[in-house]
Amino acid sequence: MDEYSAGPTGPARAAGEAQAARAAVGPVVAVDNLVKRYGDLVALDHFNLTIEPGEIFGLLGPNGSGKTTAINCILQLLTYDKGTIRLFGEPMAPTRYDLKRRIGVVPQNVALFEELTVRENIDFFCALYVSDRRERARLVDEAIAFVGLQDYVKFRPRKLSGGLLRRLNIACGIAHKPQLAFFDEPTVAVDPQSRNAILEGIRAMNERGCTVVYTSHYMEEVEEICSRIMIMDKGRSVAVGTNAELKAMVGVGERIFIEVAALDEGTRARLATLPHVRHVAYNEPELTVHCEQGAHNVSDVMGVLAAAGITCGRMYAEPPTLNDVFLEITGKELRD
Ligand SMILES: Nc1ncnc2c1ncn2[C@@H]1O[C@H](COP(=O)(O)OP(=O)(O)OP(=O)(O)O)[C@@H](O)[C@H]1O
Ligand SMILES: [Mg+2]
Repeated sequence: MDEYSAGPTGPARAAGEAQAARAAVGPVVAVDNLVKRYGDLVALDHFNLTIEPGEIFGLLGPNGSGKTTAINCILQLLTYDKGTIRLFGEPMAPTRYDLKRRIGVVPQNVALFEELTVRENIDFFCALYVSDRRERARLVDEAIAFVGLQDYVKFRPRKLSGGLLRRLNIACGIAHKPQLAFFDEPTVAVDPQSRNAILEGIRAMNERGCTVVYTSHYMEEVEEICSRIMIMDKGRSVAVGTNAELKAMVGVGERIFIEVAALDEGTRARLATLPHVRHVAYNEPELTVHCEQGAHNVSDVMGVLAAAGITCGRMYAEPPTLNDVFLEITGKELRD
């Protein structure tokens, strides 16, 4: 900006500059119209994806929706029928080792060498990208500390628990300090402690500047760590946005649960006709009211009950989930 132009100042200017910097760099991942078939099965059906620098981008979808296939195509581990893939603004191809060096991959299926120790496994994968031994020793040490495997460096994989194996899988994928990292279901079959360590680690990598692609069919995890989320179904993107944007898209509101000793038909009907109420169910003693988004849902429901002289016991309300969004768009549950 030259000194005579009157532009925004302070935070507005900083935000504008950050946006301009992003625009100058462009998306880290840009997938356009990708089609992948396995015989007659269309695993990716004109799939599009754009990920900006610094995101933790979540791919959320039920089993078989195409998450792993999308990642493997992006990484050129699979051939595809149609479409273009650009990474860091460059066309991706199987021989683009310069781009692959900047990428970390933590595959869905743990891929390790049984005959190598924890440390040797990490060193092997790191050596694919870093040839200098001293530099590599430092990176391997950092990766071991990062995933908390200091006490296991001489163990072979078969002696590790499921959670520790996952952590080793992660260390192998990220030891070379990638700028873009793919985590494909990294928390499947791990204990809560390892799960938290994994999510914390991903956040820390992201804070140090690594763009992250995170796939899961656990909506809670995706909601917890992702800046934006794509919901996938049958090889397609059915919705993309922040957690809040996705929920606003379909208008589902909270579910209210109230313990009531008895509910007469008239009161139930009055509840059902309230504006913002979608569905009322009574399974003695629990009354469940599904609402659309609205500021007065709880007070309106409580008002009807109070007017009918019905006393209430325990009461709680749950915010909408991404499962509600998925159900609204596709007509089925995320976890069938
Ligand atoms: N090698 C293969 N040969 C034939 N079909 C395949 C192959 N790999 C995947 N598929 C099919 O492609 C579709 C997408 O599978 P993919 O593994 O990408 O899904 P996903 O979303 O990663 O599922 P999950 O949550 O179970 O990991 C599925 O219908 C699957 O059965
Ligand atoms: Mg998968």
